Amino acid sequence: MHKLIFVNLQQFAGSEEKWQEWLLKANLSDTGVYLDIPTDLQAKQLLSTAAKLSHLPLNQFLRNFGIFVAPHLIAQFRHYIDNTWDVLDFLEHTEDYIHKEVRNQIRGANPPTLQVSRPSKDNVVIHYCSSLRMCHFAEGLVESAAAHYKQKVLIIQPKCMLNGDAECEISVTRA
Ligand code: HEM
Repeated sequence: MHKLIFVNLQQFAGSEEKWQEWLLKANLSDTGVYLDIPTDLQAKQLLSTAAKLSHLPLNQFLRNFGIFVAPHLIAQFRHYIDNTWDVLDFLEHTEDYIHKEVRNQIRGANPPTLQVSRPSKDNVVIHYCSSLRMCHFAEGLVESAAAHYKQKVLIIQPKCMLNGDAECEISVTRA
């Protein structure tokens, strides 16, 4: 996972003291992990430690982190977001307009390839597959993006890697 997300995680910690505690308990204090590109293993170690120290199940922690991080990502990449889009258009184009640009512009960044379809005007389906299995982070991003657009959506996940499926399917419907 790229340090860009780690920098946001550091802010999400809320204080330097808590961030240092997360690093320490995850055995990452002396690794300079947030200065370079953390490995998937280091990312998993840090996220699960942070969840434990926050007294939250990992899924809930990841969802909260996704909710926190979306406005920062949207602000940073606003030039790639068409201002005529609503939240479903934004989700439909995250892969081809935004994740693609992230890969081109940020050294070492490798966001997951999302396969997105738009079965109807009111529904977007996102197929997600990654060894990080961060579908709850993705759900948090979606929830927060909807709030950013001041729109209400219903999010369901009929398929999930965490339940043994080969990929996650996140379906977002205008509510
Ligand atoms: C402005 C919008 C967005 C930006 C700028 C953005 C950018 C990024 C970046 C920089 C990463 C880290 C890449 C790495 O670790 O190398 C990432 C990861 C991720 N993104 Fe996005 N993203 C956006 C929206 C979304 C949306 C809408 C979804 C899904 C609905 C999504 C799903 C994910 C997931 C699940 C990861 C975690 C890494 C993984 O699973 O492998 N992103 N994104």
